[in-house]
Order: sequence, then C-alpha cells, then structure tokens
Amino acid sequence: MAAPILVTGGTGTLGRLVVPRLRDAGYEVRVLSRRRREGGAGVEFVTGDLATGEGVEAAVAGTEIVVHCAGGAKGDEVKTGHLVRAGSPAGVRHLVYISVVGADRVPVASGLDRAIFGYFASKLAAERVVADSGLPWTTLRATQFHDLLFMVVRQLARLPVIPVPAGIRFQPVDAGEVADRLVELALGAPAGLVPDLAGPRVYELAELVRSYLRAGGRHRPILPVRVPGKAARALRDGANLAPDRAVGRRTWEEFLAGRVTSPAGGARRRSRRVAGPRRS
Ligand SMILES: NC(=O)c1ccc[n+]([C@@H]2O[C@H](COP(=O)([O-])OP(=O)(O)OC[C@H]3O[C@@H](n4cnc5c(N)ncnc54)[C@H](OP(=O)(O)O)[C@@H]3O)[C@@H](O)[C@H]2O)c1
Repeated sequence: MAAPILVTGGTGTLGRLVVPRLRDAGYEVRVLSRRRREGGAGVEFVTGDLATGEGVEAAVAGTEIVVHCAGGAKGDEVKTGHLVRAGSPAGVRHLVYISVVGADRVPVASGLDRAIFGYFASKLAAERVVADSGLPWTTLRATQFHDLLFMVVRQLARLPVIPVPAGIRFQPVDAGEVADRLVELALGAPAGLVPDLAGPRVYELAELVRSYLRAGGRHRPILPVRVPGKAARALRDGANLAPDRAVGRRTWEEFLAGRVTSPAGGARRRSRRVAGPRRS
C-alpha cells in the first residue's frame, strides 16, 4: 500500500481543498495541525507545531510525499526549516511547496517594507529553504486567493470611509484551482520552480471593494492612500501579478456571487452576511 501523503496546513483554506483531492486520487492522507482533531475515512490528524518543530518528525515519519500548505503572515522560513529537517532522515522523496507570485520581486528593504510586506520576503526565504533542503522538490507560486481578498474587502467595508492603497492591484485566483494544480504536481515527478498560477483578471483593490459593496447594495466613500517604501512601489508596478500566467478560470465575480447576493435577492451569503443592518 502507498505511504500516506502528509499535508501541512491541511486545515487551512488551501489545504482543506487539497486533502479530499488526494483522497479522490486514492491516497491516505495525514494532516499536521497545531490542534488535536478527529480523523475520518483515510484521513489521519497528527498534532505538531512547525514554528517550534514539536511533533514534526512524527508527522513526517513514514511519508514519501509532503504537500506543505501551512503558512502564516510571517515566519514561514522557520516553519519550513523544521519541516525539511524532519523530512531528510524520514526519506521524503517529494516536497511540494506553495509560495506566492512576487516572492522574488517585492524588495523588503526598510522596516516599513517589512512591517507591511514582510510576507513576501518570508515566502522567498522559505522557497530557498525548500530548494536547499536536499529533498526533491516542487514549488508553485500562486496569486492571492479569492477567499483572502474577500476577507480583506469585508474588513475594509466595515469602515465608514475605506482607505485603499493607491495603485495596488490583485489577480485573484480560485483556491480550488490551486489545490487541483498542487495535487497534480504532488503526484508527478519533482519539478523545481514551476510556472506561476494566476487568476483570470487583474483588479485594482478599490475595484474589488466596490464590487463587494455593490453586491451587498451598499455605498461607502473610498480614500486612496499612497503607501511609501520600495515594496509598495514594486506592488504598484505589478510585482504580485502574473498576467502572462492568467490561467485560472473562476472569476472574482463568480466567487462573489457565491458569497453575496443582492439585497433584492435576499442579501444572503453562504457563510456570513455582508456587514450592515439585519433585515427582518
Ligand atoms: N491565501 C492566499 O491568498 C495565498 C496566496 C498564495 C500563496 N499562499 C500560501 O498558501 C498557503 C496556505 O494559505 P491559506 O490561505 O490556506 O492559509 P490559512 O487558511 O491561513 O491556513 C494556514 C494553515 O497553516 C497551518 N499552520 C499555521 N501555522 C502553523 C504551525 N506553526 N504549525 C503547523 N501548522 C500551522 C494552520 O493549521 P492549524 O491552524 O490547524 O494548526 C492552517 O491549516 C500558505 O503557505 C500561503 O502563504 C496563500
């Protein structure tokens, strides 16, 4: 029987879409999480913390393929370091990593850059940890998921006046499509850094905010704010975009339609309502 595939971050937005896809492909899956959880058919949960390394060796033991989806706003290079050190003696033959488009193009020079955009530097450092690990590897860079941008615009829309970094654009991609690609890569041969995966269209952040407000039948003034620093300039120049790799199919509008419907249609979302007064 094939060894189980370890999915770090298998409880997150991306990882929980990867797990059922690996199951559908016929693999047993092991999920590493910081919290104790009940497993299910073909899915085992192990408790561990990549930030400290606790429990990571046991999580990796007996696996040959690791899909590394665990991550956060900072410290991914440390988490990835603990994973690869546990992976080397365990006989991992393929480590698959998800990074972000622009990891190598957003300069994090000053304290301000680091405070706002340190995520990109951390992803690049983690990519290097993967490439230098001695393990066979594949890294995919994706643009921002719909879910993340939805969370951002929902938070911003709570403000009476919405400050939006001027000139910064996004190319949202469907997390399910990223999961499809990661699984395809995980089940193939190690391929190094593969072509980026980006969504079908580029939007100004203000445009994403406006479409969210419109879908909920609301209006708010938007205030463009110029963010200083080299990282922000790189983003204004499109460092986080990959227009030549706009291979994602599901659009922001389709995603939004599944989350927010117009007030005329009942103003209901699958998860939570658009912020605003409840209708009786
Ligand atoms: N979101 C995006 O737009 C986007 C775009 C490109 C690339 N990516 C990358 O894709 C990956 C997944 O993103 P996501 O949006 O799915 O993240 P997410 O929803 O925030 O989930 C983060 C996952 O990481 C796990 N995790 C965090 N810290 C951990 C630690 N110290 N030890 C073990 N597990 C830990 C969490 O597991 P527990 O809480 O269960 O421990 C959770 O499953 C990340 O590497 C991210 O950088 C994301």
